[in-house]
Amino acid sequence: MADHKRDVRNPLLFECAWEVANKVGGIYTVIKTKVPVTVSEFGDRYCLIGPLSYKTAPMEVEAQEATDPALIATLDLMRGQGVKCLYGRWLIEGNPRVLLFDTGSVYNRLDEWKGDLWNLAGIPTPPNDHETNDTVIFGYLVAWFLGEYVARQLDTAVIAHFHEWQAGLAIPLCRKRHIDVTTVFTTHATLLGRYLCAGSVDFYNNLQYFDVDHEAGKRGIYHRYCIERSSAHCADVFTTVSHITAYESEHLLKRKPDGVLPNGLNVVKFQAMHEFQNLHATSKAKINEFVQGHFYGHYDFDLDDTLYMFTAGRYEYRNKGVDMFIESLARLNYRLQKAGSKMTVVAFIIMPAATQSYTVEALKGQAVTKQLKDTVTEIQNRIGARLFEHAIRSNGEHGTLPAPEALLSDEDKVLLKRRIFALKRNSLPPVTTHNMVDDASDPILNQIRRVHLFNSSSDRVKIVFHPDFLNSNNPILGLDYEEFVRGCHMGVFPSYYEPWGYTPAECTVMGIPSITTNLSGFGCFMQDLIEHPEDEGCYIVDRRLQSVEDSVNQLSSCMFTFCQKTRRQRINQRNRVERLSPLLDWKNLGMEYSKARQLALRRAYPDAFYGAEDEEFDFGAGVERIPPMSVPASPRFRPTGMATPGDIGTLTEEMERLNTSDYRGYNFPGTADEDEGYPFPLVM
Ligand code: UDP
Ligand code: G6P
Ligand code: GLC
Repeated sequence: MADHKRDVRNPLLFECAWEVANKVGGIYTVIKTKVPVTVSEFGDRYCLIGPLSYKTAPMEVEAQEATDPALIATLDLMRGQGVKCLYGRWLIEGNPRVLLFDTGSVYNRLDEWKGDLWNLAGIPTPPNDHETNDTVIFGYLVAWFLGEYVARQLDTAVIAHFHEWQAGLAIPLCRKRHIDVTTVFTTHATLLGRYLCAGSVDFYNNLQYFDVDHEAGKRGIYHRYCIERSSAHCADVFTTVSHITAYESEHLLKRKPDGVLPNGLNVVKFQAMHEFQNLHATSKAKINEFVQGHFYGHYDFDLDDTLYMFTAGRYEYRNKGVDMFIESLARLNYRLQKAGSKMTVVAFIIMPAATQSYTVEALKGQAVTKQLKDTVTEIQNRIGARLFEHAIRSNGEHGTLPAPEALLSDEDKVLLKRRIFALKRNSLPPVTTHNMVDDASDPILNQIRRVHLFNSSSDRVKIVFHPDFLNSNNPILGLDYEEFVRGCHMGVFPSYYEPWGYTPAECTVMGIPSITTNLSGFGCFMQDLIEHPEDEGCYIVDRRLQSVEDSVNQLSSCMFTFCQKTRRQRINQRNRVERLSPLLDWKNLGMEYSKARQLALRRAYPDAFYGAEDEEFDFGAGVERIPPMSVPASPRFRPTGMATPGDIGTLTEEMERLNTSDYRGYNFPGTADEDEGYPFPLVM
């Protein structure tokens, strides 16, 4: 590090991720929802760095001139050498500064940088991996930027926080070039973990034994793996999002994370407690409209006795547990039929896949119901006019009522009949809303075929597979994702591989019950904090200690029991779920990020901290914490000594002082002896 002393008390923070202003999956949610607490801590000393996507950036970012002289000079220099970038404000809550680099503008330097990467770090990069090419260019641009910037700005310490391997390549570059920044790397998964789990490997029982280089090579991701591993090893502080991924990282990336930074959300508290219940009712009404259209001609169930369940996320069939969801739905269908239940479950699967267009049938369903609705409105208006005309003619004393037949004209009857005839259909309501590119080999469709859930009248479980993310502008299921979730009754996420899993967390803060597993970071987090999460509407299926068959049965029983609840019980449960929100609020969990940054500063600039032990180092300054027990009394915290949600993170102040590199010894339920590493008894 350089000789001059940088001020470590008011550091600058650059947070760098591929999903800054560029939505792909959950990392976008991490970054975006965390911004308000980070801005409240750093103000304009905070700047995000991401890739420039011309498709989304114009909607997300407002361009602005830089005012910091070091930044102006750095950007001028880079632009002078052909780098295109956009600097401005990200138009989200907190309005942070953001710098987006156009990787395409410097593709001409790809070979040069790939060669450099090989010479510098021995990392090979094959020619046709577009994602890796982007990663290389982005990494070199960010390292270039940081190097130039800290050479001009010598007063203040700079923390560079990177998320995931696609943004991580700048870390080894910073280290090799001795760039005077301190680095934090947060991984949200491991590449190998994701790949291995997607296959048919008994992952958790074998974590210690994988020959990582061999496995990565076999899957054609050795170069990516090298980038990820060097990011983890070269960072001053290495963290991840859950204990289960910390354990995985230790074995697959061969570095024990320094701590766990659980993912939070920006929890919005409504003025009135019942407000979120009203939102459920209004959003549900919109889903009802879709369902009436989609099931036209077979709409023989009562919406008052219908429950909406859903799963959503990136299309990872096995990792996200869609296989288990569909199998459990088939069993639920059977159990509801056998029990003679009057309940109907409409199960939505929201997972983007390659599609050509909406199906004609799906579009037609919405069109015929819209026509019917328009016609009914017209007739209703005419009936109203006739009624009025009849009533106004009376002299106020002995008014007669019109004969009911006179209210509906022959013309109206014909029109109505035509609309009703249009509802005739020769086929069952389609299980998918889109024409899929790979219809014949699509794993979700194939499993639906296998279990015969074809939306027939006798089925108590109906399926709607929407192979695209939701959007309120869509002609079908035209709701934003949040609105959709609010309108549903239950989210089901039986993941096999899920470092965190935002989808059930989002359900929780919206007051919607969810099912997840003890193989997901979120599931384990809740299980750690709450003694009986299922009593709070947070169901956790055991996919760790029992067979797949037993897990499927547990999941279908859980859904079956939910179907037996009365409306009043569902309302109560939503209230209980919503009260868990503070556990997931960044106002609490953001503290773990502060600790990680603090640890990074201490590691990079130990001298600046000598003798500072007794001094109050207020690294949480600006972050508003809720008092520990403002969480309602109902979640009974486990007697582990953890009082606040923030305490579930692992970067303790004590550890910082000791400068150790370890996350808190984490007992997976059922583990006996920590001395034997991490016994993780899995029976799959
Ligand atoms: N999501 C969305 N639209 C949808 C379905 C999902 O925006 O139609 C979002 C959801 O809100 C969540 C993210 O996608 O924040 C998925 O994150 P998660 O951590 O569950 O999984 P990942 O995709 O990162 O593995
Ligand atoms: C909310 C609304 C109620 C509505 C209920 C429906 O609680 O405030 O007015 O009756 O939702 O609940 P359900 O579980 O049947 O969709
Ligand atoms: C990853 C993981 C997901 C996690 C998200 C945010 O994409 O797959 O489980 O929620 O990152 O950390």
